[in-house]
Amino acid sequence: MFDDIAPVYDRMNTIMTAGGDGRWRRAAVEATELGSAGSAIDVACGTGKLSVALADRVGPFGRVVGVDLSAAMIGYARATTGDIVQLEFSVANALDLPFDDATFDVATIAFGLRNLADYEAGFRELARVVHPGGRVVCLELSVPRPRIWGTVYLGTFRLLAPLVAGLFARGRTYRYLPASLEGFPDPATLTGTMIRAGLRDVGYRRLALGAVALHVGIVGPG
Ligand SMILES: C[S@@+](CC[C@H](N)C(=O)[O-])C[C@H]1O[C@@H](n2cnc3c(N)ncnc32)[C@H](O)[C@@H]1O
Repeated sequence: MFDDIAPVYDRMNTIMTAGGDGRWRRAAVEATELGSAGSAIDVACGTGKLSVALADRVGPFGRVVGVDLSAAMIGYARATTGDIVQLEFSVANALDLPFDDATFDVATIAFGLRNLADYEAGFRELARVVHPGGRVVCLELSVPRPRIWGTVYLGTFRLLAPLVAGLFARGRTYRYLPASLEGFPDPATLTGTMIRAGLRDVGYRRLALGAVALHVGIVGPG
């Protein structure tokens, strides 16, 4: 599915979020607290928007690796992000990252977690490749509270996502998007998942009136 939408993914995102996705990614970059010459892995990087923002933050002496399961997304990321010396992309599964333990200062995942078959295993794998004291940052869609507003939001999303995607001849594919949110854990439950995966000092903030949640956890014993 992600191979199919790679060429239109960024434009669809901007329309569906009314430009909000850029702001949310900037908040995720801030939450990494990465310094100059730091290192990060951006898992489920898609077309590489967050990876580029991270590369910008760490500068030319840093290192950012964007990985994604979709070869088309990685191909698109490589073709569109230009020549940034501290940035590389590769095809890899979030649940089995081809990196040694404690390789990076930070691991990020943006709008990718809900695609994984096992969220706890996903966080455990992100934490594994980050050194103790480093950060795992997760940006993900969420269902707003209170429940009545959440129901209205999901209903609207279910109608609008395929309509907007229809503009790009991807309407059928994009029925998946709201469906992937149904049953997805709320931010407090996801905090528990991160703690069970071995992260500590886990906290989150809601963005976009609760339609997005930004979680941060620290790797290793306190
Ligand atoms: C909604 S996109 C998010 C892309 C990007 N992070 C962003 O912020 O726009 C979800 C991405 O997760 C990737 N993905 C799904 N399952 C994956 C897995 N098991 N391992 C790595 N990437 C995966 C998809 O290929 C897709 O590019």
